Amino acid sequence: MIPFVDLHAINARFEDEFKIGFQDFLDSSYYILGNQVKTFEQSFAKYCGTAHCVGVGNGLDALQLILEGYKLLDKLSIGDEVLVASNTYIATIIAIKQAGLKPVLVEAESKTFNFDLDALEAGITPKSKAIMPVHLYGQLAPMKEILALSSKHNLLIIEDAAQAHGAKDANGNRAGNLGSAAGFSFYPTKNLGALGDGGAVTTNDDDLAEVIRKLRNYGTSSKYVNEVLGFNSRLDEIQAAFLNVKLPTLDSDNDFRRKIATRYISEINNSKITLPFYDKSDAHIFHLFVVQVENRNEFQTYLNENGIGNLIHYPIAPHQQNALPDFKHLKFPITEKIHNQVISIPISPVMDAQQVSRVIEVLNSY
Ligand SMILES: Cc1ncc(COP(=O)(O)O)c(C=O)c1O
Repeated sequence: MIPFVDLHAINARFEDEFKIGFQDFLDSSYYILGNQVKTFEQSFAKYCGTAHCVGVGNGLDALQLILEGYKLLDKLSIGDEVLVASNTYIATIIAIKQAGLKPVLVEAESKTFNFDLDALEAGITPKSKAIMPVHLYGQLAPMKEILALSSKHNLLIIEDAAQAHGAKDANGNRAGNLGSAAGFSFYPTKNLGALGDGGAVTTNDDDLAEVIRKLRNYGTSSKYVNEVLGFNSRLDEIQAAFLNVKLPTLDSDNDFRRKIATRYISEINNSKITLPFYDKSDAHIFHLFVVQVENRNEFQTYLNENGIGNLIHYPIAPHQQNALPDFKHLKFPITEKIHNQVISIPISPVMDAQQVSRVIEVLNSY
């Protein structure tokens, strides 16, 4: 059996350093917003190339806190429209709704699983105030075109970088440093994953960083002085300790994933399986390796029978989820097709060459 992702093996590589990190944490007696969080914020801001990183509770909160921050800075108001891809993971849309803003879903295209750019432009109205590009599956969104639209229409760009830690554009700029602000998730399966929940906001906007630092901690900047109505969403100190251990390995892990993806793309040859787009650049970090098949149920049964772990990202389009009844009447044919056909096969920094060969062999024999 080849697991879809072997989190134990991924984290066992760091066991000794985790133990040292835990001992430091224990000895520090600073269990909330201590030195581990400070160190991680500095290191991750440096890694992304941004002026600021603010550690928060999870990726959903990171996105919502950016929106709440912009509301406090009068750059967004309740009811403003935010354009977002209709095939994103639902968290992006939840963040917009929870912040009292209006998600405007934009049809996807199935080559890179990102915005259909014509549909994006067509979705802009006088009420549009922000675009939330999602670097889905680890592939950067078409930021050049999105930036051009945002400057033409004066829109904020809030990257959902939850699946794209370390992805770089052609100029070497990383996800998290490509718009006005970005939200990251450190959910354990992510390319930079904690051993529990975690998230971060990165930005070059000093005012936004300052307001999010307050918002994540009850709206305070000094103890028990509440300046704004805040939240409790702090990156946990022990998770920051684990992330400090793992961050230096992120680039080599991403390279390793790209090597597996390169093998899959050159060696899987089966007309029933559509492989993902890859331009051989560092714009993709292959958080997931997502293929498309017409008869997914049959293919999934075949993978299961042959011991190849798999998952579907995602089986139900957001506009068809019961949680979003206002969107039920909408139709996004490409998005719906994507949701009917996608299936993810194993890719991770701990797969060995034999396992990769086995996945290729099983897919070629389908
Ligand atoms: C694209 C995307 N956005 C947001 C999130 C939310 O992150 P979290 O689960 O840490 O809240 C996720 C996480 O799964 C995600 O994949």
